[in-house]
Amino acid sequence: MNQTPVYTPIPMTMTTDGATAAYKIPGQGIIASSSSSSSSRRALSRCLLCATRAGAWVSRRRYELAPLGGTSALTVLGLAQDGTSPALAYGTLAALSGAGAVAGLKHKNQLVTHVGAAGFIALADVTTAVAAGFSWPTATAWALATGAAYGVYGPWLATQRNARMKLHVDTVKAKGAVPEALGLEAADPGLTGASPEETALRRGFHALTGAVPFAVHAFHRGPDGSWSCILKTPPGRNTAPALLVKRAGQLQANMGVPGRLTLAEGPEANDLIVKVAMSDTLASTIAVTDTGVITCREPVMLGRDEDGETFLLRLLYRHTLVAGASDWGKSGIVNLILKRLNRCEDVDLYGVDMKPGQPELGPWRGRMKALAGNAVQARELLEFIRAECDRRGAILSELSKQAMAEGRGPVRKWVPGEHGTAIFVVTDELAELVRQDDDLAKLYESLLAIARFLAIQFVSATQQPSRKVFGGSTDARGNYANRLSTRAGEAGHAPLIFGQGCQTRGWRPELLDLPGKFLAQTPEHDTPRVYRAEYVSDTDIADEVGFFYSEIKDTEPQPALTDEPWVEAFAPLRFPDGSTVGRDQWPDLYRVFAGLGGGATKKELAQACRVSRDTAMRAIDEWTQRGVVSQRDGRSTRYYLPKETP
Ligand SMILES: Nc1ncnc2c1ncn2[C@@H]1O[C@H](COP(=O)(O)OP(=O)(O)OP(=O)(O)O)[C@@H](O)[C@H]1O
Ligand SMILES: [Mg+2]
Repeated sequence: MNQTPVYTPIPMTMTTDGATAAYKIPGQGIIASSSSSSSSRRALSRCLLCATRAGAWVSRRRYELAPLGGTSALTVLGLAQDGTSPALAYGTLAALSGAGAVAGLKHKNQLVTHVGAAGFIALADVTTAVAAGFSWPTATAWALATGAAYGVYGPWLATQRNARMKLHVDTVKAKGAVPEALGLEAADPGLTGASPEETALRRGFHALTGAVPFAVHAFHRGPDGSWSCILKTPPGRNTAPALLVKRAGQLQANMGVPGRLTLAEGPEANDLIVKVAMSDTLASTIAVTDTGVITCREPVMLGRDEDGETFLLRLLYRHTLVAGASDWGKSGIVNLILKRLNRCEDVDLYGVDMKPGQPELGPWRGRMKALAGNAVQARELLEFIRAECDRRGAILSELSKQAMAEGRGPVRKWVPGEHGTAIFVVTDELAELVRQDDDLAKLYESLLAIARFLAIQFVSATQQPSRKVFGGSTDARGNYANRLSTRAGEAGHAPLIFGQGCQTRGWRPELLDLPGKFLAQTPEHDTPRVYRAEYVSDTDIADEVGFFYSEIKDTEPQPALTDEPWVEAFAPLRFPDGSTVGRDQWPDLYRVFAGLGGGATKKELAQACRVSRDTAMRAIDEWTQRGVVSQRDGRSTRYYLPKETP
């Protein structure tokens, strides 16, 4: 019979003779599997470990183990001695100690009682050990002595521990109380300044941020009691000057000093300029000045802030909202904007003023391309703007194509002065426009959304910045990148103008106290500062309008790209009667029709435009009311533009 061979694994490394199968670790000799010296070393190290642990435990519990240690030591001492005479001697001493304890009790002397009792217990233990040697009575005496020692020592130890704990708690409590007793400065150094104002500032700042100012310097006091300084803000999460500037209202409330506090960022990253004004530098009317700016590509100057800094407003590619209650200077700001734009050579002005007789924008009529005074005119104007958007869009797209063909980037923006003029549509009382025609609000809003990059901007003034005024949509207000507000009638208007939660950040138009003062939120101005607009009086307007009828200025329009012949192709389509072709009047078909030259029958038009004959018929019916003429041509009717009539 054939036996299957048993498989034997081969060890990985073997000694040369193969006698032992132990694996060899490279670099080491073969470890012997057992040897008596190594086992005793291991036992020794284990003992050492146990001893260390026991030692650590004993040292940790040293206070608890002290009585046990004491009685055990005495017992061992007693066991070491032998004989009757030492036993008698210890016994006598024990009896004397006991007597001392009794005497102490009798005379109510605690110390004598305690010492006597302790001595009696200890000596009785020793006496027993000496007399009885290694025996049960000795063990019993030891146990009794130990028990008695713990009976006294235990409560004492507990009292000591409680006292130590109490000391700990008292220390912690005292840490708060001590600086209070010594004055605030000891607890939070840096809260007292060199003057009452500085102290108020330091404390107000601490209350606001929880941090102490790094330094306060350049303190200056003016003759009227106004003061200013630079506060170096400390490192922290909420101490950046840019953030603090928005919390000026809260800081002033914390400080509780008279005057009006304003904050500004200083020259260095951690500089906060603090100013408290006792008098209003904007109290007097600012007369209108000439800035000499003649292009809308530059910002317009509207007024000044408390430090006399000019307020510049960029109007190009942005819509501007001017809000505010009646008689606080909205129209004043609108007039100022108009005055500035009037000087710009690259601007066409349009106006919407729905108040009967156009009291607000009427004076500017001579300088405007059109001024709409009622809902019908407003719709015409907005529809014209809509068509102009299409035209400008088409020109830009053609320009883009040309630019790309020449290897340059696309043309995305209509540049006034280069491509043509910028258009500004100024509306005084937007709410009135909405009230008179609901649909206009929607048209207005859609224009706001698409017109900006075509250099068509809206400047809208409104008394009631309600949701409805912005077209009823959730955030049409977002279309206005520039938002100005003169005094608001109600605190509730502020969020409608400057956004939710603006009041806590200091946007409080209801606190403005003089006409012409305004707050402005624009990409360049995102902190609530009070400005005052230059005041354009009626005579200023008359001068301004008259300016362009005098000889001083040559109003010859500047050559622009739109004057080039090819741009003609983008001119609005017109019917023979002169009216423009509306969106619902088949402009695409009309373009083809006008291009056919010799006119067309309904059938021919339908074929040329690939539409149904029905559609062609409806289009032609509409067009015939606008000056397209017809003539019989055999059995069918042929339609012509009048100039093409054979
Ligand atoms: N910048 C200014 N500086 C000083 N006073 C001004 C300024 N602007 C306006 N005023 C004063 O405030 C008055 C009212 O201004 P304005 O007509 O502009 O208010 P409004 O907000 O347009 O009012 P309404 O809503 O009734 O049209 C002006 O007659 C003028 O006396
Ligand atoms: Mg007004």
